[in-house]
Amino acid sequence: MQDERTETLEQIGAAFRQTRPPEPEPNMPARPTLKDIFNLRLNTPKFGLPIAAAPHCTQCAVQALKAGMDEKIVLACLLHDVGLAVCRPDHGWWGAQLVEPYVPEEVSWAIRYHQALRYFPDESVGYEYPQMYRKMFGEDYRPPEYIAAAHEHARNHKWYMQARSITLFDDYSFEKNQVWSIEPFEDIIGRHFRQPKEGLGNDASATAHMWRTLIDPSKPL
Ligand SMILES: [Fe+2]
Ligand SMILES: [Fe+2]
Repeated sequence: MQDERTETLEQIGAAFRQTRPPEPEPNMPARPTLKDIFNLRLNTPKFGLPIAAAPHCTQCAVQALKAGMDEKIVLACLLHDVGLAVCRPDHGWWGAQLVEPYVPEEVSWAIRYHQALRYFPDESVGYEYPQMYRKMFGEDYRPPEYIAAAHEHARNHKWYMQARSITLFDDYSFEKNQVWSIEPFEDIIGRHFRQPKEGLGNDASATAHMWRTLIDPSKPL
């Protein structure tokens, strides 16, 4: 019995050790900033996708900037899919929660609801159902009830256009070979993102553990 237990524990240890990828992630500075996260963790495509989060999100934010949107909407566009680097399902909710301690409420709100709004056209602002989703889910797909309920809630909310704006630029932000940089957004980040002095993941915020997971996603425990 004792031997069997020891064997199982050793198997668990070996299995966890194998979760380490052969190529380690690039080193992070001791006090990671949002800029470091973009440059060192969001620049590699994940989940078999053809484009990484950083180029996609910066392209989305560039469009918001060019359209003369409010700085908080530009920041929401910049951060809208960062949650995908933590968890793919319900990335709007994950992403909103991740940044919530550091941004104005309307920014995290917009990130949370952009996920649901993507499924619902709004002719009044020129948003159509994404072609990509026809491919992803099939022609007759209906999103689950909680997505429909989130859309309904957002549609009647004072910040509807904050979230809707993300979806307007989202579909046009998938240029695979476009050079990207966080630099055009550094002033906006400085004004609206409360960078913790200890570094993301090292502060005592409610989501510091999520930043640590993003920084080292294959930690055994
Ligand atoms: Fe998204
Ligand atoms: Fe997106």
